[in-house]
Amino acid sequence: MLHHFAPLNEFPLDAVNFIAMDRELKTFRSVAIFLSLILGAHLAALAQTQPTLLTAVDHRKTTSLDGAWHTIVDPYATGLYDFHQHLRDDGYFQNAKRESGDSPLEYDFAKSPTLKVPGDWNTQRDALFLYEGTVWYQKDFSYSKAAGNRLFLHVGAANYRSYVWVNGRPGCQHEGGFTPFDCEITDQITNGANFAVIAVDSTRLANGIPTLQTDWWNYGGLTRDVSLVEVPAQFIDDYTLQLKRGTKDQIDGWVHMEGATPGTSVSAEIPELRLSEKATVDADGRAFFHLHAPALQLWSPEHPKLYRVKLLSGKDTLEDEIGFRTVEVHGNEIWLNGSPIFLRGISVHAEAPIRTGRAYTDQDAQTLLGWVRELGANFVRLAHYPHDERMARLADKMGLLVWSEVPVYWAVQFEDPEVLAKAKQQLREMIRRDRNKASILLWSVANETPLTPARTQFLSTLVTTAREEDPSRLITAALLVRTEGMQKIVDDPLGASLDVIGVNEYIGWYEHKPEDADKTEWQIKFDKPLIVSEFGGDTKAGLHGTASQRWTEEYQASLYRHQLGMLNRIPSLRGLSPWILMDFRSPRRPLPGIQDFFNRKGLISESGKRKQAFYILQKAYQQQSVGKAHGEHP
Ligand code: GCU
Repeated sequence: MLHHFAPLNEFPLDAVNFIAMDRELKTFRSVAIFLSLILGAHLAALAQTQPTLLTAVDHRKTTSLDGAWHTIVDPYATGLYDFHQHLRDDGYFQNAKRESGDSPLEYDFAKSPTLKVPGDWNTQRDALFLYEGTVWYQKDFSYSKAAGNRLFLHVGAANYRSYVWVNGRPGCQHEGGFTPFDCEITDQITNGANFAVIAVDSTRLANGIPTLQTDWWNYGGLTRDVSLVEVPAQFIDDYTLQLKRGTKDQIDGWVHMEGATPGTSVSAEIPELRLSEKATVDADGRAFFHLHAPALQLWSPEHPKLYRVKLLSGKDTLEDEIGFRTVEVHGNEIWLNGSPIFLRGISVHAEAPIRTGRAYTDQDAQTLLGWVRELGANFVRLAHYPHDERMARLADKMGLLVWSEVPVYWAVQFEDPEVLAKAKQQLREMIRRDRNKASILLWSVANETPLTPARTQFLSTLVTTAREEDPSRLITAALLVRTEGMQKIVDDPLGASLDVIGVNEYIGWYEHKPEDADKTEWQIKFDKPLIVSEFGGDTKAGLHGTASQRWTEEYQASLYRHQLGMLNRIPSLRGLSPWILMDFRSPRRPLPGIQDFFNRKGLISESGKRKQAFYILQKAYQQQSVGKAHGEHP
């Protein structure tokens, strides 16, 4: 059936073929969407086993499965369907080595090319640069599990939908490209030789989170670490320990046990503070703790103090490194550890500096957050999806405050309850992975969503979910702003349910001239802290001209000067995160010679070149001449 279709890697990736490739990809796309919809339906078997999410996996003893995985690019999902669209029972998940019966074996992972895991496939192989669809990953590994223990296959993230089999038997499936999941494979594993097969489908879905339109590249694949996590039959899968608001020495929290009977004993220790407390698990598997810590040093940007904590129960021990601080809102001020703070920030995409592609390494995190620090910032907006856990860990160490967001981005299908369920799932996963990261200040439930009653209802529900999951942090969203002449009006009804109002505005780029910021007045309906979560303009590093010439560094610099002046006139401004630290890839930005599929609003180019505006913002941050943490501006 498929012989007439040329395999992907025969496409040379130069501009001329782009069009041809694009036309090919368009047919691909419609076929791929049709296939991936059926794919989801047919994989009901896998749906039975919902993955879980183990906290602090990066602090557990694990067996890494990172490295080279054999791959099969499967635009027609042949690995799952026969020519009449029936689910094959001899699909690629079997990783068959010889023919069964009379039918020929038409795939062979062992002879198939490899891709590196973690890593997106788009920047690893030219032929996959624009590819959206299914890729099969296969890896052999030897393992022996201790009797009675449970085993999970941990995936740091896989974009967008992934289906896991071990030794040809279904493991689990997951939807969402930026949050981790843990697939139980206790029954599938054998002591000795094993193999894992993971089908990853990056097809964008109208009922997805995010939906079809994004201003970032849809990097597909196993984009973060993959490992095996072995735990005793009774183990700690989640916990939280937080400094109680209004105190400097009261640490409250709970530990959740999997597989434990009520009454099981758990202890929480902070050795450096000589603190240790025992508690017992209740019917829901939770044990509650109240530690009095008179000698506690609070975590703050100036003093990012982290403590090793140890949680022990039976045969299981979970260690972590966390900081203790309180965050709250007082009127229109943001308070950290009981004092007002101003957030001098910048927005960042998980685009790898220099090499480009989805960021995931320690080096990526150090380079990006190193540049944030060089700017003189104390705050970073990780847009528009949860970034690699390394970013939050490093922010904990560096003392950077973080805005973390789920990709409820632009016009998702707010009317569809299934879409709400997907958004809630990603929100819970984001919070569960990072609830003990001191650096995380804000959970954001959305970015630039259209103002409809269904949307506001949808997002209000997400706000409630976030508060239930984590009552210790502030909830926000990046809202659109109404414009009337030279007036900016912030009256989005969602603002009523947020702790902190985030607004995106592009005066001087998508509307008006940079200098029009000087005469722009802001009308803000809410007496709440306001963060200008985006403003900016594109320029190609090294392109020079006059301040009125768009795309030049001078234009971007002028835009920043006028913006900073305007922002200083907004009384409730408590932070900003201009768009954006570094140029990043976007399929919406084709302008030849300037954008070339990059959004160029970075203050730094993807190759590390600082633009003029970088130094303007740096100066304002180092002199702390923008914004005020407390009370009215002079
Ligand atoms: C929007 C959006 C960003 C986008 C930016 C831009 O505000 O939130 O994701 O990249 O504008 O247009 O550059």
